[in-house]
Amino acid sequence: MKPEIVLEAEDLTRHYEVSRGTFKSPAVVKALDGATFTLEKGKTLAVVGESGCGKSTLARLVTLIEEPTSGLLKIKGQDLSTTDHNIRRQFHSKVQIVFQDPYGSLNPRQKIGHALEEPLLVNTDQSKAEREKAARDILDLVGLRPEHYDRYPHMFSGGQRQRIAVARALMLEPEILVLDEPVSALDVSIQAQILNLLAELQERLNLAYLFISHDLSVVHHIADEVMVMYLGVPVESGSRDTLFSTPRHPYTQALLSATPVADPFKEKQRIVLRGELPSPMNPPSGCTFHPRCPWVIDTCKQTSPMIRLIGESHVACHVAQ
Ligand SMILES: Nc1ncnc2c1ncn2[C@@H]1O[C@H](COP(=O)(O)OP(=O)(O)O)[C@@H](O)[C@H]1O
Ligand SMILES: [Mg+2]
Repeated sequence: MKPEIVLEAEDLTRHYEVSRGTFKSPAVVKALDGATFTLEKGKTLAVVGESGCGKSTLARLVTLIEEPTSGLLKIKGQDLSTTDHNIRRQFHSKVQIVFQDPYGSLNPRQKIGHALEEPLLVNTDQSKAEREKAARDILDLVGLRPEHYDRYPHMFSGGQRQRIAVARALMLEPEILVLDEPVSALDVSIQAQILNLLAELQERLNLAYLFISHDLSVVHHIADEVMVMYLGVPVESGSRDTLFSTPRHPYTQALLSATPVADPFKEKQRIVLRGELPSPMNPPSGCTFHPRCPWVIDTCKQTSPMIRLIGESHVACHVAQ
């Protein structure tokens, strides 16, 4: 059977204009500069990269919080690059988001049960009794107890609050969850519990995850496919196993060499990148990775590399083999 593609992006781009003061023209931040990928029903695509590489920007586009500057975005085959608000509104409920810090999005004076019911109150015409039943069912589904319905956000631990955030995201029965660093603020032991919960929910509800993280060891647990981003562009993507066993792009290799996962018996040489991550307001010429790249040749300084297939991975590098 052919896999069902629930999310599709082609050259998806988001630029921001930022003021540089009264007498200068605004500068352009290329937060996301051409991302192409697909996500299958029931699968997890992990998006990895350092802080500032455009992950949250991608999350805002996919969840229809913001519109792309250019490029194509399709959810369940429907083109949502369109600015037609009616069409965008219809698809809002299909894609829901969970943030790193759920505390910020929970009203401290609202009982958890009511917070869970809110999306139903706004988006459906369900009765109070129906909404309450749905909220109680979801509490159970994410491993919380019936008495939690009447409690307030401050009465929960970080891990429990992240369960609540996941529960809230599920209220409208989405097919896609965007998880933006969902475990980054949690202790390692709690991270594992939340990752297990996410895996269980995916299995039961056949959810597709766009899982965003800067941490490759977390990604290794949960991803089917991985896309590595650098300064707003994907530099390598492929299946988790291929990417972890045979990373092709020098940036992927550097990230992996700093991560204690993959194969503990494999001798790994730590690759330390030169310099700092440049600003997306003033990215380097050619391949934007070239000033930090151990393999740099002249071409890299002039021409930005096209994505090409090497083995089973898609790689944007002039030199990689
Ligand atoms: N609304 C905005 N206006 C201007 N610049 C922005 C805006 N949102 C994000 N950026 C910039 O875009 C880049 C990517 O940001 P972000 O998507 O948050 O990265 P990540 O989530 O990977 O850390 C950063 O340089 C950030 O400062
Ligand atoms: Mg972010």
